[in-house]
Amino acid sequence: KANTMWGGRFAAGPDAIMEAINASISFDQRMARQDIEGSRAHAAMLAATGIVDGSDVEAIREGLLTVLSEIEGGTFTYSAALEDIHMNVESRLTEIVGPAAGRLHTARSRNDQVATDFKLWVRDQMDAAITGIEALQRALLGQAEAGADWVMPGFTHLQTAQPVTWGHHMMAYVEMLGRDASRFRDARTRMNTSPLGAAALAGTSFPIDRDMTSKALGFDRPAANSLDAVADRDFALEFLSAASICAMHLSRFAEELVIWSSAQFRFVALSDRFSTGSSIMPQKKNPDAAELIRAKIGRIFGANVALMTVMKGLPLAYSKDMQEDKEQTFDAADNLMLALAAMEGMVRDMEANVASLEAAAASGFSTATDLADWLVRTLDMPFREAHHVTGSLVKLAEDKGCDLPDLTLADMRSVHGDITQAVFDVLGVHNSVASRVSYGGTAPVRVREQIAQWRAELG
Ligand code: ARG
Repeated sequence: KANTMWGGRFAAGPDAIMEAINASISFDQRMARQDIEGSRAHAAMLAATGIVDGSDVEAIREGLLTVLSEIEGGTFTYSAALEDIHMNVESRLTEIVGPAAGRLHTARSRNDQVATDFKLWVRDQMDAAITGIEALQRALLGQAEAGADWVMPGFTHLQTAQPVTWGHHMMAYVEMLGRDASRFRDARTRMNTSPLGAAALAGTSFPIDRDMTSKALGFDRPAANSLDAVADRDFALEFLSAASICAMHLSRFAEELVIWSSAQFRFVALSDRFSTGSSIMPQKKNPDAAELIRAKIGRIFGANVALMTVMKGLPLAYSKDMQEDKEQTFDAADNLMLALAAMEGMVRDMEANVASLEAAAASGFSTATDLADWLVRTLDMPFREAHHVTGSLVKLAEDKGCDLPDLTLADMRSVHGDITQAVFDVLGVHNSVASRVSYGGTAPVRVREQIAQWRAELG
């Protein structure tokens, strides 16, 4: 039988395959609440402008609440024949309130309707992402406060570079996540315009009040161009790009946790709550949560690429291609929230092995730069020469099979005669980090300032 929404010019209903490729209800039912919220705002506006009689609108708005409670109560039956959430809701509304329901779609199209619903959904996810990021930042702050002066190796090329503090390393992620949250905030501000009232693409001849619906739905203003309003999916793309960058940060930290928790590093112990065992190797405690967080970037970035690819060739205004925006975005959002929550839990629970961190910090000639700086400061040596002298000392230590602090003063003097006993003060890792007091540096006093600033910001 022909479709109830547009049966007028159709003699036959769709092929089963057509229905399968066309229907979006299996996934867009996640926007039911937004759809009903949008319809209620649209209906109220139709009454206020006199476009639809007030008593019909009252029945419609009441009926929509009934539909919502059926959906939330799990008694609503979705139908693929009704294609999407918009027509499923409207069809049920018709059963509840009768022919008056047919007036709801006056001065509206599914094109502005879906853009509005999806925007409302994505906007909620931007807020949820910010909340999740801030929770993780607080967990990192807790770690930073506990270990503002624990020393650990800082790496470049994953080779020992210079000692840093645990707090400094944790705060590096707090900074990254701060940028992530601000990307979601910026995107949220930019996206917050209402597509509702753009109708199919050209606007409408009815005397609608777009400011009224925009305000009712918490938008800052109506989108200014009706073609753009229904053709725009930038808001989802910005969400996915911000999510990709954030997931990339989570993935880098996850990689560090995988390395740090290995038997070779022993920098941290992950809690039982965020690890798994092996079915064959009894000794194993695997960092699965970290590994999965590391992997989530794949699907999130994939969603971003997929939607960019869907959008890039579309002529204005709406094309059905755009229905492919939702599953990807839903999946990316779900997995970003999950990754944030899992990372927060892992960070809260993880225990740093302070002794291993310190031992590792002291190995690998990590204070060689401190030695070179001492030569510059104390002997007024040009840095390039100091670099060379220190290099020779590292070579000597390597040949003797010891570390820099283990060399004798005589060893030191065999390379440069003016070196004094005072040099040994700068070879200790605690002195090394304490000396790096430049703004943004790893010295515990600087790290504590960064922590205090973020505590004030995050409350
Ligand atoms: N299910 C559609 C979507 O997700 C709703 C819009 C349909 N509009 C149309 N002109 N067929 O995009």
